[in-house]
Amino acid sequence: MDASNGTSAKSATLTIGDESWELPILNGTIGPDVIDIGKLYAQTGKFTYDPGFTSTAACESQITYIDGDEGILLYRGYPIEQLAETGDFLETCYLLLYGELPTAAQKADFDYRVTRHTMVHEQMSRFFHGFRRDAHPMSVLVASVGALSAFYHDSTDISDPQQRMIASIRMIAKIPTLAAMAYKYSIGQPFVYPKNDLDYASNFLRMCFSVPCEEYKVNPILSRAIDRIFILHADHEQNASTSTVRLAGSSGANPFACIAAGIACLWGPAHGGANEAALKMLGEIGSVDRIPEFIKRAKDKNDPFRLMGFGHRVYKNYDPRAKIMQRTCHEVLGELGIQDDPLLDIAVELERIALQDEYFVERKLYPNIDFYSGITLRALGFPTSMFTVLFALARTVGWIGQWKEMIEDPGQRIGRPRQLYTGDVARDYVPIARRK
Ligand code: CMC
Repeated sequence: MDASNGTSAKSATLTIGDESWELPILNGTIGPDVIDIGKLYAQTGKFTYDPGFTSTAACESQITYIDGDEGILLYRGYPIEQLAETGDFLETCYLLLYGELPTAAQKADFDYRVTRHTMVHEQMSRFFHGFRRDAHPMSVLVASVGALSAFYHDSTDISDPQQRMIASIRMIAKIPTLAAMAYKYSIGQPFVYPKNDLDYASNFLRMCFSVPCEEYKVNPILSRAIDRIFILHADHEQNASTSTVRLAGSSGANPFACIAAGIACLWGPAHGGANEAALKMLGEIGSVDRIPEFIKRAKDKNDPFRLMGFGHRVYKNYDPRAKIMQRTCHEVLGELGIQDDPLLDIAVELERIALQDEYFVERKLYPNIDFYSGITLRALGFPTSMFTVLFALARTVGWIGQWKEMIEDPGQRIGRPRQLYTGDVARDYVPIARRK
């Protein structure tokens, strides 16, 4: 296949044998052009083959842009560094959902609308009591978010823009309450109701860490840290869980059920589960002098071990979120007076060694956001099993924003990938008595 006219080409020519077809080339505002193969099968009788979607744009989107080679992440055009430094999480939510930063009045109105939806139906607490206390909080979150669809099914007409926005706001408002309930349940403490005069992050910390018998005072530095962690995780283009939400939603399914599908996908260690896995790995390494042994294992093709928190499908440079995360980690440890965290020492040294090692340099493997987030979240008081839950909480706005964008796309159709079939060809059924 040749692009007929270099990078400014409007079409590409596909030649198979002595037949040729022109394929349109579409331009985005930034990023690589895409070859439109939408009519390829109809015209040629051929599919494309791209397991893992490494070269496939599955949709058009205006929400998030990543330049993996340069280490750039933009939400609606704004660099992540600027949003994380100056704004708050609900401002980022507004930006992702509406496409523009809010004015002061729009922000106040949005905060109010989110705040008004923070409580969950009292009946929800009954669901929690059906789980074993030692259930992984992610399993509880998948189930409870899925269960929201039972409360808002008849009232959610996804063809009505206003109802789509209400569902989006409900999702953003209720996910911290459910995440905190999952945590409280796992440690046998009573659920804490949201307190609406607190900001989003402070409210979440209070729902997780306060108990009815004591006053709880939110530490503003820690609450700012958690708010920044939410901003860093809010959206990340067409990653596995977002694509899951889009695919689930493409059938017209209930949005709460679609978000539950995204949470299920996020759970895996190659995706959102990596922060939990990274912290476990640092614990397993145990001391700085054992790092070379683990680096050796990570490079050994016969050993399934990988350096968790390293590498990324898109970033072939430093993950911009990892830099902010590293700073936040130092701030949190400083505020809590943790002078010496042996895991932080291991992380810093591991990063230093890996960034000089030919194997990692050649493959452009850099620390990703999960490398330092585990240490930070642990210092904030969260057990490892809650790490992915916090990721899910923050990513909910990205998922719902991408779901909304998909539903609002006039060209939207049900997602239906094809396959390269390599199984048996048609053969006749053999009755069981005649099988050998
Ligand atoms: N440790 C050691 N080797 C690695 C690692 C790693 N963490 N990551 C990739 N490689 C090697 C891999 O073995 C392969 O080597 P070779 O070319 O010799 O076969 C090469 O680098 C390319 O790897 P890949 O598996 O083809 O890359 P991918 O784009 O499919 O995978 C990844 C991306 C994130 C799944 C992978 O880097 C990984 O498993 N990292 C550890 C898990 C992790 O930290 N995940 C969090 C991602 S960031 C949070 C999020 O967005 O969800």
